[in-house]
Amino acid sequence: MIETDRLPEIAGGLRRAAQRFGTPLNVTAAAELDRLAGELAEAFPDPILRLFSIKANDVPGIVGRLTGPGPGLGLGASVVSRGEWAVARLAGVPNRRIALEGIGKTDADLRAVVRAAERGEPLLWTALESADEAAVLGRLAARALGRGAPRLDVLLRLNPAVDPETLPGLAVGVATSKFGLASDELAAAIEAGGGPSGPLRWRGIHLHVGSQLGAIDAWRDGVRRALAVVGLLGGSTTGFDTLDLGGGFPVFEVGTPAPRPARFAQELAELIGALPADRRPTRLAVEPGRWLVARAGYLVARVLHARHRNGPMVVLDAGMTELIRPALYGARHGVVALTSGLRPWAGTSSGLESTAVEGPICEATDSWGRHLLPPLVRGDLVAIRDAGAYGASLSSTYNGRPRAAQAILEADGGLALVRRRGAGATIR
Ligand SMILES: Cc1ncc(COP(=O)(O)O)c(C=O)c1O
Repeated sequence: MIETDRLPEIAGGLRRAAQRFGTPLNVTAAAELDRLAGELAEAFPDPILRLFSIKANDVPGIVGRLTGPGPGLGLGASVVSRGEWAVARLAGVPNRRIALEGIGKTDADLRAVVRAAERGEPLLWTALESADEAAVLGRLAARALGRGAPRLDVLLRLNPAVDPETLPGLAVGVATSKFGLASDELAAAIEAGGGPSGPLRWRGIHLHVGSQLGAIDAWRDGVRRALAVVGLLGGSTTGFDTLDLGGGFPVFEVGTPAPRPARFAQELAELIGALPADRRPTRLAVEPGRWLVARAGYLVARVLHARHRNGPMVVLDAGMTELIRPALYGARHGVVALTSGLRPWAGTSSGLESTAVEGPICEATDSWGRHLLPPLVRGDLVAIRDAGAYGASLSSTYNGRPRAAQAILEADGGLALVRRRGAGATIR
């Protein structure tokens, strides 16, 4: 399938957004967001649970769009802290559609899980990373059980011990990573949490093989291992019926082949189809982050300096504080001109030169790399592509910089500001 590049249709909207709200500016194209959510829903239709991994984009206006009503929308949320949980609630997601996961849960986080259940608003589930975590939640839940609270639904996060086809920094499913339980640690975690019939209701396995998966093979191996565990523990633990497959669907530069969600879904169907009926999970979930938001998001920036250093070089007003992925793990993002020489630019391929594009931060690693660009002068606008994931949520105020604003560009060209410049991480 050849992917359509949507940028030409929305470049005018990006220019208007920059003029109205200033730069650097995050702009999300709503039509693209809806299209991506729709494609995900086609690949993983109901009753498969689709959760948006909020770590990819924690702007409540974006989370609300994905979790609110609309074809393919209405996603639940996967959160890794009480901060992200608060974002999900702010966006209107009820606890019954929120899963708490993540490797850094504190006692206070786990107390909040128990309190929510006691209030009659239990989370969808909590995914446990270790026997230590299971022991704490089990103790807290046992006390609450004495006060009449219900048992708590939990998943066990399995470390699938595979070799994901991705950047080393994103390969969380390797056996040596800090994430999840090895398969021979699962039984001990269940015991630590109070046993199969204790205060925790063991509902299944949570898996995340890695992000930006360039091929399907490690994912297939990871899912096969997880299915084997669900089949095995499902035989001895009542209600052990769930497999959460995590995220990882990749977004590469426009035009670069990448497996789409339907490809992963096809593989899943084959793996499950090969199992005897009584060993299949009856509840499935996916929790992509990047795939839902990356392509829909653009970081719009202005040129601050144009100079010559072994060819043309420009310095932008957006850098690692707005999108740290290139500096953090060498990710590459396309950069395209929205204007050239202070004139709107038609975007033809003539007159393009390899240009070094740099950020404004006092770090040499703050660079967008080399890109084919027309002549640029101070004040010209550029768009950095695929900036909707792990941009705003990983942004910082280093060098005393306010966080960038966030706008939504509607399909009819309307613009809405959903985060003011300088607003905190969880407030508008
Ligand atoms: C447990 C878990 N689920 C889902 C995701 C989302 O991954 P992606 O944005 O690659 O879809 C991550 C990312 O780190 C994760 O750790």
